[in-house]
Amino acid sequence: MSVLTRLLATLGKATGILTLLVALAAVLLTYFEDADPVKYTSMAAEDMKTLEENFRQQNKSCFILGASGETGKLLLQELVERNIFSKITLIGRRLLTFEDKAYANLVQEVVDFEKLDDYAAVFQGHDVGYCCLGTTRAKAGADGFVRVDHDYVLKSAELAKAGGCSQFHLETSRGANKNSSFLYLKVKGQVEADVEALDFDRYSVYRPGALLVDRQERRPAEWIALKFFKALASVGSTSMSVPIQAVAKAMVSNTLLQPEKKSEILENKDIAALGKSAKK
Ligand SMILES: NC(=O)c1ccc[n+]([C@@H]2O[C@H](COP(=O)([O-])OP(=O)(O)OC[C@H]3O[C@@H](n4cnc5c(N)ncnc54)[C@H](OP(=O)(O)O)[C@@H]3O)[C@@H](O)[C@H]2O)c1
Ligand SMILES: *[C@@H]1O[C@H](CO)[C@@H](O)[C@H](O)[C@H]1NC(C)=O
Ligand SMILES: *[C@@H]1O[C@H](CO)[C@@H](O)[C@H](O)[C@H]1NC(C)=O
Repeated sequence: MSVLTRLLATLGKATGILTLLVALAAVLLTYFEDADPVKYTSMAAEDMKTLEENFRQQNKSCFILGASGETGKLLLQELVERNIFSKITLIGRRLLTFEDKAYANLVQEVVDFEKLDDYAAVFQGHDVGYCCLGTTRAKAGADGFVRVDHDYVLKSAELAKAGGCSQFHLETSRGANKNSSFLYLKVKGQVEADVEALDFDRYSVYRPGALLVDRQERRPAEWIALKFFKALASVGSTSMSVPIQAVAKAMVSNTLLQPEKKSEILENKDIAALGKSAKK
């Protein structure tokens, strides 16, 4: 038997076990299917158009962190299409290339996230900040994960606040909780709390469950998990997963709304509801 066949057989076994684990976890999770009512409702297209027009009149500017990521690139696309800002700046670790002419007016700033203090000027003069930054423990190790998902995010938010930014929109995760014993949920909860302490005029946290996406970068285990979440969604579960497009739409639509409080949290169900509204 070739090395390749043996490898494939092992992989097959591993994914089999993984599917079982994911299924088991999902069954357990349905017990925690959140019973809170949905706070956000979808909106008529005409109402959304009016809000967009009013917002556009204000000539506001925004920046995006993580615009090269799965959520970030859809958020960028949504912002470009709906054209509600007079200026969009992408802040990232590398320069991105776009074919589409619609993207020609974007401003790009390349920064070293380990030395963000040197780039304070980049964060100056934006009205709204969006953050879809993130890595995984598998990619970056535990320390690297905390650096990116907590430290980079918090430092960027601090610099933006100091630079006059009045609203911050942060994508974290379903189940984020600074008291959690899971590193992932703990770090997400901690960054939510630390950014809230910066006291933006407006602060919105988005906590999606599993993002339903056709990722370019193929990850077999994730692919199986996604199949499972799609199946769950198709039988009516609304708090476990959300189409990734809905997250982008919800972040943009929510920017146009007047929040009841300075800071708000949109749970998966809220994202799903609001993410439907901007349909054309
Ligand atoms: N995927 C899910 O199912 C899921 C579910 C709930 C919540 N979330 C959270 O939602 C957020 C966005 O997820 P996603 O799947 O859209 O993200 P993604 O596709 O993995 O994109 C991550 C973004 O962060 C940037 N980034 C990663 N490591 C970096 C580093 N060391 N320095 C600078 N930039 C770095 C990437 O830039 P490069 O392109 O340069 O690498 C990219 O723009 C994350 O916080 C994630 O934890 C994800
Ligand atoms: C926005 O820009 C337009 C065109 O540049 C200008 O006519 C308008 O007065 C500006 N509005 C505000 C609120 O600054
Ligand atoms: C975390 O624990 C503290 C202290 O027990 C408690 O006051 C707080 O409400 C908890 N926060 C969350 C998000 O569970």
